Amino acid sequence: MNLSIIGTGYVGLVTGACFADVGHTVICVDSDREKVRRLQGGEIPIFEPGLEALVHRTVAAGRLSFTSSTAEGVAGSEAVFIAVPTPPQPDGSVDLSFIEGVAREIAGCLTGYRVIVDKSTVPVKTAEKVAETIKRYRKTDADFDVVSNPEFLREGFAIDDLMKPDRVVVGTSSERAAAKMREIYEPFHAPIIVTDANSAELIKHAANSFLALKISYANALSVICEASGANVQEVTRGMGLDARIGTRFLQAGLGFGGSCFPKDLSAFIKISEQLGYDFRLLKEVQRINATQMERFHQKITDTLWVLKEKHIGVLGLTFKQNTDDVRNSPSIDLCHRMLADGARLRVHDPKGMEKARAFFPAGSAVEYVSEAEAVATGCDALVIATEWSEFGRLDWARIKSSMATAIVFDGRNLLDPVEMKQLGFLYRSIGR
Ligand code: UDX
Repeated sequence: MNLSIIGTGYVGLVTGACFADVGHTVICVDSDREKVRRLQGGEIPIFEPGLEALVHRTVAAGRLSFTSSTAEGVAGSEAVFIAVPTPPQPDGSVDLSFIEGVAREIAGCLTGYRVIVDKSTVPVKTAEKVAETIKRYRKTDADFDVVSNPEFLREGFAIDDLMKPDRVVVGTSSERAAAKMREIYEPFHAPIIVTDANSAELIKHAANSFLALKISYANALSVICEASGANVQEVTRGMGLDARIGTRFLQAGLGFGGSCFPKDLSAFIKISEQLGYDFRLLKEVQRINATQMERFHQKITDTLWVLKEKHIGVLGLTFKQNTDDVRNSPSIDLCHRMLADGARLRVHDPKGMEKARAFFPAGSAVEYVSEAEAVATGCDALVIATEWSEFGRLDWARIKSSMATAIVFDGRNLLDPVEMKQLGFLYRSIGR
């Protein structure tokens, strides 16, 4: 089918490339002409494993193209996906101005029946607002349907998550639109849930908030494990073998970050408030997450006593492994705390160093180190802040000999406490 995706950010570009890969013809639209030019030249502005090859392959096959003209995208498609940002506002509500702007642009160039698809994460009842907007601003009486189709892509695993979805959620009461959506997603051979738009929009916020709840539950358990001499990894392993619980998203650590969980949690709390429900459970999820970071920072200051003028190595700046994204990264938050304590940092990240520079003002006591093992040279302590699996394969014996004092704080429980003790490290981790 002929499809267009408006917004070539992390969700839009991955979605467009995957749709093209399964055989659809996709026009990706972006208002940022410079970005469109770079994409047309084969440059991929975000790091996502496999994305560059996928875009090059589908562009070469003539099934993926880029334009800055919404009219071109809408004219050449049967379905138009909206994948523009829905950034958080200071009060936790969602800024829907990009969604409204795109809905008006689409309305202005609607000439025949189209399915308009909300792919962005939006508050419940947004599909209704988009439909009202298109009705108000359309120039012809062309028919259309607005459908909610939330994405469940994890950064760093986005292509896998899209090519092999656990489920496709479609929110519409129009059988015509539902049939189109079934046709679009047929090549993915995944369960498709067709429900009303409000339920579909809520599924996204409810799912993400539940995943964040699982993480905060594991982090709360880690405190109890530390106080009782238990091992949180053993406790969550034992729990997770119950099929009703599952082991995933039960890893205690520095807490969750990224551009989704914090934003979606705040949005869901705000939406619930506007609907008359005080979602205290989710407020507690947020509180536990913030406290987890404070506890870990306290662990470092308790052990090192004085941080001023201490040299501390930091492995990992991104909010999780397999991405270059440092937005809302717990590691960056921790670095700011240690800098405020007067520490001097040597930092390394496999992918996120460039993007991290913007988060440290010029003149910060931060040295960017290109080799992971070199971060430790001369340091009084080393912090593991992101669970990049390559950190687990470093030569820790060699690292120990390069450090001023052999102290490691493992914020992601990446290393084995027994091995680190045998190597002679003073090793602190989470909940073990
Ligand atoms: C999340 C949802 O997983 C995805 O379905 C949704 O579409 C977007 O938001 P993402 O934010 O990209 O995806 O990353 P995710 O893998 O969910 O991790 C989020 C954060 O939780 C990271 O900071 C990660 O380090 C942390 N995390 C994850 C834990 O602390 N413990 C865990 O067990 C799992």
